[in-house]
Amino acid sequence: MSSDLTGKEQIAIIGSGLIGQSWAMIFAGGGYRVTIYDILPEQVSKALETVKSNLTKYETQGCLRGSLSAQQQIGLISGSSSLEQCLQAASYVQECVPELVDLKRKVFQQIDPFITEHMVVATSSSCIGVSQFAGDLKNRHRTLVAHPVNPPYFIPLVEIVPGPWTLPEVTAKTRTLLEAVGQSPVTLSREVPGFALNRIQYSIINECWNMYKDGLLSAKDIDKVMVDGLGPRYAFIGPLETMHLNADGNTVNLVDYCQRYAQGAYNVTSTFIPPPILYDVPTAEDILKEVQETIPLEKITERRVWRDERLAALAALKKQLKEK
Ligand code: NAI
Repeated sequence: MSSDLTGKEQIAIIGSGLIGQSWAMIFAGGGYRVTIYDILPEQVSKALETVKSNLTKYETQGCLRGSLSAQQQIGLISGSSSLEQCLQAASYVQECVPELVDLKRKVFQQIDPFITEHMVVATSSSCIGVSQFAGDLKNRHRTLVAHPVNPPYFIPLVEIVPGPWTLPEVTAKTRTLLEAVGQSPVTLSREVPGFALNRIQYSIINECWNMYKDGLLSAKDIDKVMVDGLGPRYAFIGPLETMHLNADGNTVNLVDYCQRYAQGAYNVTSTFIPPPILYDVPTAEDILKEVQETIPLEKITERRVWRDERLAALAALKKQLKEK
């Protein structure tokens, strides 16, 4: 596939909601032809309109991806009301239907007869591994997870998670393609609950929840620890590199950091209590009350736009810094 996915091959997007639309824009940004399919034909038209308006807006704002103009990218994206037609000539399929295991199973069964020996079929699934719904397929060895992070157009990480039967070449080709369109893939060696991102995310949420419940900090101050503390650093270097850089002097490194801080870190983490059950309504209502002081319900949409604008600006800054 690396030779046939050269910018002229077809990408099929199955499900044209938020994530399907994002993938369409990402692949078109990389110069690939994209066909979008949805169970609701009117949703396909809606998705094409949204994609058109977003790409035009991104061009005006200077955050359009790739080297083609918005008009050229729009020209690469078409819609179809037929699954079969959408899959014809596709060498890469990105499934984006809702996160329901039975629905994913049904959709993968529908795709299975059209899977060719060069095709890769990826699910955008946030939590469900392919082993949970693709095990009975004739072509299960060509399926895997490619989990994006919202909003995928501005947050480049994609988690590639092979099933137990996925061919290594399928995993490798997916990674090559995603890199070619400017995403930043990571490859897990096997399925684990939550993949990597949500394992890390939940460990953070759990400790935030426990600290709040313990009355240690307000909800606002907990968020501030991330936004003004760990977050800015993690936008550029990860926790393992942080350990390496935090070692003293020029002659010591990550191993030295571990020797120096292992006991302290262990003393802290030994005080962690078991993970909370987040469905703890009184605590959730308390946190909501505080969060709503800054972001009342009617301002959530506005705040999402604000978030995406800032993420777009950060993506532009990182690109600019990389180019220097
Ligand atoms: P969505 O609800 O916005 O869109 C789903 C689309 O699939 C709808 O347009 C629906 O009409 C269509 N659909 C339903 N049944 C179908 C079928 N049988 N065949 C074809 N199309 C069908 O969902 P969203 O948010 O785009 O999520 C899609 C996938 O991406 C889910 O697995 C989700 O977990 C994952 N994901 C979502 C993220 C998010 O923040 N929304 C982030 C990362 C992954």
